[in-house]
Amino acid sequence: MQQLLLFAREDLALQSLTHAQFSHDGVCPEAARMALEQTYGGLLQESNTFNRQLVSFQANKTERLHGWIKYREGFSAGLVESLLGDFGIKPGDTVLDPFAGSCTTLLVAQALGVNAVGIELLPNSHLAWDAKSRVYRYDLAEISHVLHLIESQTPPPSSRPFPHLPITESAFPPEVERDLMAYDQWFDTLELSADTRLLCRFALMSILEDVSYTRKDGQYLRWDVRAEKIRAANERRRSQGLAPVHGINKGVIPSVKSELLKVLTRIRYDAQVLQREPPPPSSQTLVRGNTLSELPKMPPAVFDAVITSPPYANRYDYTRTYALELAYLGVGEGISTGCGRICSPVPSRIVLNLPISGTSTRRSAGQPTSMLFST
Ligand SMILES: C[S@@+](CC[C@H](N)C(=O)[O-])C[C@H]1O[C@@H](n2cnc3c(N)ncnc32)[C@H](O)[C@@H]1O
Repeated sequence: MQQLLLFAREDLALQSLTHAQFSHDGVCPEAARMALEQTYGGLLQESNTFNRQLVSFQANKTERLHGWIKYREGFSAGLVESLLGDFGIKPGDTVLDPFAGSCTTLLVAQALGVNAVGIELLPNSHLAWDAKSRVYRYDLAEISHVLHLIESQTPPPSSRPFPHLPITESAFPPEVERDLMAYDQWFDTLELSADTRLLCRFALMSILEDVSYTRKDGQYLRWDVRAEKIRAANERRRSQGLAPVHGINKGVIPSVKSELLKVLTRIRYDAQVLQREPPPPSSQTLVRGNTLSELPKMPPAVFDAVITSPPYANRYDYTRTYALELAYLGVGEGISTGCGRICSPVPSRIVLNLPISGTSTRRSAGQPTSMLFST
């Protein structure tokens, strides 16, 4: 197998970037990969322009709208703004993000009046997009009404069980799990507009990690020692004379009520600020499906730029990291990319940048300007 040189630095070029599984179990024939490398390998550039904050989700945590739900694998709104500026993208142009995740690219485009198309497989990201993209039209008085109800009332107990997946069993303290489902059912019974109802569902999804005995950590959920699953495992281990497994201790687990109040208060504030200056009209579409099958259906030459952070084959399983959210949404274990797992970004700072001729970053050369990010 011939490995093309992707880096200008010889010491890096000497390292092989391929391994036996690179072609993902034959989904991509080796010859196709080689053809891709031959076409685009020369266009890869390393860049030190962006810092860690910008290429990761860190900067989004406190960012209006983007911080409503954590998405550790995301890049920041600031990065997208900066790239759109570099590419000379203006209102009316169209950008593509084929691995949209928390939809940072689409939301920044929306704020700037730029058209955008995203593709994303996971339903938790779909709900995040549905909730965040409505920010300019939420009825603030209705959100205040919901906040008042949460503050002043206790939802009646629900008979709905939390729709656990095997790997999420015992993820919540029992009273938290009861409350989650009580609020879930209660929101359905309130007289609310479809937008606010959707927002309530999103708010519940967004607090799941915080009220649970789990913490997203790299590729897995780490478990608190108090979770029933860990306690039972440790009892078994002790009876077998084995040392107990070490879990984390998250300290006091906040209540569903306090977290809901927190997230909805933040949302109301952000919506209030953003609604003062709504962006120029534009259109954003999130295609819900597998990029492998959806991208080829898109018409050629409609995109002025591509900004994306792709998954990295066989390294990262998003369905494990987002198991709580997927379980809550009633998604069984049946999500399939058609090519195995859903994977993480490459842990490096490689930038693919198609050529920009002169000051024009548009499709003048017959290709969109594009950036492929690895955070
Ligand atoms: C690194 S994340 C993108 C994060 C995004 N840039 C952001 O700011 O939130 C990659 C995304 O690709 C999605 N993904 C992975 N494989 C996919 C596939 N075959 N089709 C569609 N989406 C996929 C994952 O669910 C994940 O949300």
